[in-house]
Amino acid sequence: MKLARRYSFCASHRLHAAQLSDSENAATYGKCNHPHGHGHNYVVEVCVSGPVDPETGRVADLEKLDRLVREQVIARYDHRNLNTDCEEYAHQVPTTEVVAVEIGKRLRREWARYLGEESAHLERIRIWETERNIFEVSV
Ligand code: NI
Repeated sequence: MKLARRYSFCASHRLHAAQLSDSENAATYGKCNHPHGHGHNYVVEVCVSGPVDPETGRVADLEKLDRLVREQVIARYDHRNLNTDCEEYAHQVPTTEVVAVEIGKRLRREWARYLGEESAHLERIRIWETERNIFEVSV
């Protein structure tokens, strides 16, 4: 069984690679390289999979999943500047591809502590950066 649950956060970022020159950055990222950054209303979908528990009839405990995502992702990213407020983007560009990978790594690392060892497992992360830009990573 697969279950997908959606969450949202608002954050700003600037796409700028330290190893590129200013003109190369402008050519690569266009308006996303604007010096003062810009914001998005991100939607994060967390997909889990596993057997349906015969006692509860559920694949996962949504309260536990919510607490994990709220504490490890939303509290960390909501109303933040990803470039300057989150150490994982100090040395990598916070494109939504990279943000998806980082969220997946963080959720996987904390999974057993919140969901338990015998739980359903984390399957993939999908992020809507805008209505038109949607990213998905298997984790
Ligand atoms: Ni952007």
